[in-house]
Amino acid sequence: MEIWEDLESDYREQTGQSKNAYDELYQHIPAGVASTFRAWSPYPFIVDKASGVHLHDLDGNSYLDFDMNNGAGMVGHTHPEVTSAVSNQLEEGTLYTHPHELLGEAAKELKKRWDAVDLVRFTNSGTESTMHAIRVARAYTGKDKLLKIEGSYHGVHDYCLISKSTPKGQLGHPKQPSKVIESDGVPDEIAETVEIAPFNDLEAIEAILQDNVNEIGGIIVEPIVMNVGVTQPYRKFLTGLREICDEYGIVYIFDEVKTGVKVAPGGAAEYYDVEPDLVTMAKSIGGNFPVGAFGGREEIMRIIEDNTAHYGTYNGNPLVLRAVTTVLRDVLTSDAYDHVNDLGERLATGYEDIMEDTGIVGHVSNVNSQGTIHFTDNEISDYRDFLEHIDTEFHENYWFAMLNQGVLPHPHDASQQWTISVQHEQEDIDEHLEAFKNIAPRLADEQQSV
Ligand SMILES: Cc1ncc(COP(=O)(O)O)c(C=O)c1O
Repeated sequence: MEIWEDLESDYREQTGQSKNAYDELYQHIPAGVASTFRAWSPYPFIVDKASGVHLHDLDGNSYLDFDMNNGAGMVGHTHPEVTSAVSNQLEEGTLYTHPHELLGEAAKELKKRWDAVDLVRFTNSGTESTMHAIRVARAYTGKDKLLKIEGSYHGVHDYCLISKSTPKGQLGHPKQPSKVIESDGVPDEIAETVEIAPFNDLEAIEAILQDNVNEIGGIIVEPIVMNVGVTQPYRKFLTGLREICDEYGIVYIFDEVKTGVKVAPGGAAEYYDVEPDLVTMAKSIGGNFPVGAFGGREEIMRIIEDNTAHYGTYNGNPLVLRAVTTVLRDVLTSDAYDHVNDLGERLATGYEDIMEDTGIVGHVSNVNSQGTIHFTDNEISDYRDFLEHIDTEFHENYWFAMLNQGVLPHPHDASQQWTISVQHEQEDIDEHLEAFKNIAPRLADEQQSV
C-alpha cells in the first residue's frame, strides 16, 4: 500500500534515535517493552519525558498526547498539584505496611462518587482489582462460575484471558460465543469456570444462565466496552442485567477501570444511573500513579474479613493514595468535567465535519472525555461488529499519519480511544483536528481505492 510505505518511511526518518534505543532494549527485555501491548511495528518511539499534554521522544519530537497512558492520565502529565502532593509525601515515607489515615480519606472520595460503594479495598492495578472482585463475588455467592462478555478486557489474570479478542473463524454462535483461551500458560480448566456472553443481548445472557443454573456467582461487564472503541450499552442493557443478577442471586460487577471518573465523576454507574454490587477502578483515579481499587455493598465486601483473601505489600501505600486524594478532591472538580466534556464534544464534532467535507466514510463514538473514530458507516454495538466492520490496516494509516505530524490520537490500535485531560485546551483540540484535516484527502482517496 503506497500510503503505508510513505508513512512508515517518514516515521523511520523522524525516529532514528528511538530505533537505536529500541534495538538496545530488545537485548534485555522481551519484545523491548514492559507490557506486550506496547510493541508495535515497525518499532515504538522511545519516550524521553512527559509534561503537560505532551510526550517527548529521544529524537526531540514532541507528541500532543491523547493516548494519556491508556486512559490513566485524565489529569494530564506532571500535573502541578499532584506532583507537589506526591513530592511532599516522599519526605514522609512512601510505604507503610501498617494502617494510616490516607486510606480512609481516599476511600471516602471514592464512596462520594459511587452510590454502590460502601466499602473499598486498594490494589496496585486494574488487573488486581478485577481478580479480587471476581474472587469476592464467588466467595459471597458460593458459586464458582463467572460470566464475562465476549471481546471485553478486564486485565491479564487467567480468568479474564478468555475470549478477549477471539479471532474470526473461532467465534462460535453469536448467542453462545466460544470460549477461547488467549494465552499459552492458562490451563484449560480455567475456561471451565467462565461462561462467555455477547454484549448488548439480555436474551442470550438469560439463556446462558438457564444452562448454568446455580453455578454463576458473578457477572463482570465493562459498562462501555473500551476494548472496541467506545461501545455503549443499548438502553436497558445495564438495568436489565441488574434485574437478572437480582433474580439469579449473582454479584453484578462493573469494571470501571477505564470508565471510572472519566465518563462522569462517578463513572458509568452515574452516567447510566445503574447500581452494581461491586465496582473495580484503577487508571485515572491515580493521576498516573500505579493504583487500583475495588469496592461495593457492605454485606459483600465484609466477607474479606472472613476467609476471602485480599493481601498485598504495596496495597494502599501512602505515595499513591496521596495522588488519589489530590486527584479526586482537587483536580477532577466539576469545573474540570465541564472543561473536558466541552473539549470532547469539540473534537468529536470537528472529526465529523472533516469526514463529511472530504468524503471519508466513518463516524465518531464518544462519551464525554472518551472517544474514537471508526472508519465505517456501520454501527459498532459489540465485539463482532468491530471484527467485521473495522479495517484495522486502514486505521493504522490514520494513526501513523497523525503521529508523524506530532499528534498521538489514542493508544496504538484501532480498538482504542482518546482521553481528553484537564490540561488540554481548545487550541490543542484545534491542532489535533488540523492534523486530521491535512491527511483527510489522502485517507479519502485511499478509502475509495480499496
Ligand atoms: C476495562 C479494564 N479492566 C482492567 C484493566 C487492567 O488494568 P491494568 O492494566 O491496570 O492491570 C484494563 C486495562 O486496560 C481495562 O481496560
